[in-house]
Amino acid sequence: MQAAVIDAYRQPHPTLKQVPRPQIRPNDVLVRIVAASINPIDLKTKDGGLKMLLKYDLPLIMGSDFAGTITAVGSAVHDFAVGDAVFGRVQKDRIGTFAEYLAVDQGDIARKLRNLSFEEAAALPLVGLTSYQALHDIMALQPGQKVLIQGGSGGIGTIAIQLAKHLGAYVATTTSPANFDLVKSLGADLIIDYHTTNFADVLTDYDAVFDTRGGQTLADAFQIIKPGGQVVSIAGLPNARFGKAYGVAWWKRLAFGWVTRQLTRLEKQHHATYTFLFMQPSGAQLTQLAQLVEAGSVTPVIDRVVPFSLINQALDYSHAGQAVGKIILKIAESEAD
Ligand SMILES: NC(=O)c1ccc[n+]([C@@H]2O[C@H](COP(=O)([O-])OP(=O)(O)OC[C@H]3O[C@@H](n4cnc5c(N)ncnc54)[C@H](OP(=O)(O)O)[C@@H]3O)[C@@H](O)[C@H]2O)c1
Repeated sequence: MQAAVIDAYRQPHPTLKQVPRPQIRPNDVLVRIVAASINPIDLKTKDGGLKMLLKYDLPLIMGSDFAGTITAVGSAVHDFAVGDAVFGRVQKDRIGTFAEYLAVDQGDIARKLRNLSFEEAAALPLVGLTSYQALHDIMALQPGQKVLIQGGSGGIGTIAIQLAKHLGAYVATTTSPANFDLVKSLGADLIIDYHTTNFADVLTDYDAVFDTRGGQTLADAFQIIKPGGQVVSIAGLPNARFGKAYGVAWWKRLAFGWVTRQLTRLEKQHHATYTFLFMQPSGAQLTQLAQLVEAGSVTPVIDRVVPFSLINQALDYSHAGQAVGKIILKIAESEAD
């Protein structure tokens, strides 16, 4: 099968090459992939930026999100059958969705709804699960609470705004003027142009901040948070609490604690909680997200669909950081196409 492979960390682009089809385990299904979506983590993985948390043997097939059709099932799979259209986000140690076929655990997939295209389904898993875990599982947002979502026009932001509105929250977001109409249409109540305005100068008394930027933007989030509020970051640094929950070695926990000492100080000073979130795949949560899509509460936003042969252009576009919603790779035609 054809796959996008990296042979060494930091190589400029993956190589499209022929590799053997993956073998399935008893709990796996084999999926013929129709569409996959690009996420910033794909590039971070390629460049070795996540080695403290994720270790891979090279060569490695890139890619985390996919939608496609099951072509074989393992001996312990009873809830899915050959021909089912499914989508998912693979476990972090089993990436490889930029390929024609993928072996994936049945626990990490959900059925694709008929009213969702394969491209839309592939747009959903990583950003949908991350947003759900941040806003629902960690923040437990309640109706009327105020949340700031950084980067409202990105892959995460476009889903997170819709989920926060679904949970009944008041949503502020940051983006560029060109994206104001989009984020308003997704439900944002207050829009800040991050080029001209520092959110910390205009927002106060927020129950929660969903940080997608890290660095100074993350540190500034504590200025607007209420006592008892929550700052959840997916782009900042993992702290010692995360290291313990993630089960990393003691010396890494110490290192995490040291590099996040400013955030720990800010937590105490503002009586807030800082959580670093590293999303977890979950077929069950994907099924819940699919129901929200079916109910019209959440709609995936797609920036562009790019043929698999042009993957390197698509990765460069992602790297530029200006995508509005998701970049989709079209791997194959679906039988319905
Ligand atoms: N820890 C985890 O589990 C996890 C999971 C998912 C994602 N992430 C991380 O979360 C981050 C965001 O992911 P993503 O998929 O949303 O990325 P993305 O789709 O590439 O984000 C692109 C968007 O960011 C906006 N943007 C750029 N600079 C900005 C700024 N300073 N303030 C506000 N918006 C800005 C751009 O809008 P403009 O054109 O208006 O600039 C663009 O629409 C990435 O670093 C990713 O690795 C982590």
